[in-house]
Amino acid sequence: MSSTLLKYREALPSDSAEISRLVKVYVDDEEFLSYLRYCLEGTAYGSSLGFVAETEEGKLAGFTLFREGLHFTEERNDYFDIIRRDAGSGKIWSSVIVVTDEKSMRRGLGLELFSKTADRLKEKGVNCVLMEIWVRSTGWKPAWGLVRKYPWKTLKVYGTVRNFYSEAPGRENYVCHVCGHPCRCSVEVTVGTF
Ligand SMILES: CC(C)(COP(=O)(O)OP(=O)(O)OC[C@H]1O[C@@H](n2cnc3c(N)ncnc32)[C@H](O)[C@@H]1OP(=O)(O)O)[C@@H](O)C(=O)NCCC(=O)NCCS
Ligand SMILES: [Zn+2]
Repeated sequence: MSSTLLKYREALPSDSAEISRLVKVYVDDEEFLSYLRYCLEGTAYGSSLGFVAETEEGKLAGFTLFREGLHFTEERNDYFDIIRRDAGSGKIWSSVIVVTDEKSMRRGLGLELFSKTADRLKEKGVNCVLMEIWVRSTGWKPAWGLVRKYPWKTLKVYGTVRNFYSEAPGRENYVCHVCGHPCRCSVEVTVGTF
């Protein structure tokens, strides 16, 4: 993978199978994958936006997906009132996911994909982005390194929601690839502004 030239382009609904392949390594959960497919469909209507890094063979090495409005990947709304109040009349989008395949990690791919998407949102007049920063039960925050590198105007952590996934409504049976069951991963609710 490392020697192959990568092409960056916007994500499309037809990327669904490749995106599921990449995500399954980390979250092999049909409910989550079907939520991602739903968000990916939104790229056809302008309600979602993402970028993919594609190899010459048509395989994806990574992707991002963002969604219009204030949404977590689970049905929760922690901190939404205060985030809305801070945003005022500004347009808010939410980051759904950023993933690179294991062979392509730590080569700047995640940051490139994330930056391309954020830059495009900024051009579209979006004012702020909600990010659900996954805090694994080990304390490791895989996406924090790239999120803090993006040149935000402001970057604010609103707080941590413990057991974010396992205590979401209807998710008692959620199995995490890091913790198993029950999942003890948390989320840092973070907002970046342009
Ligand atoms: C999180 C993820 C997308 C990062 O993608 P990536 O292409 O590896 O990241 P980049 O190479 O662009 O790194 C950007 C910065 O993040 C930090 N970083 C990334 N991976 C790191 C690691 N394993 N250890 C320490 N810092 C790391 C670094 O600061 C890095 O910049 P640097 O290399 O110049 O120091 C990727 O690791 C991944 O897919 N992880 C599994 C899925 C996941 O957890 N996604 C996030 C939850 S939505
Ligand atoms: Zn977990």
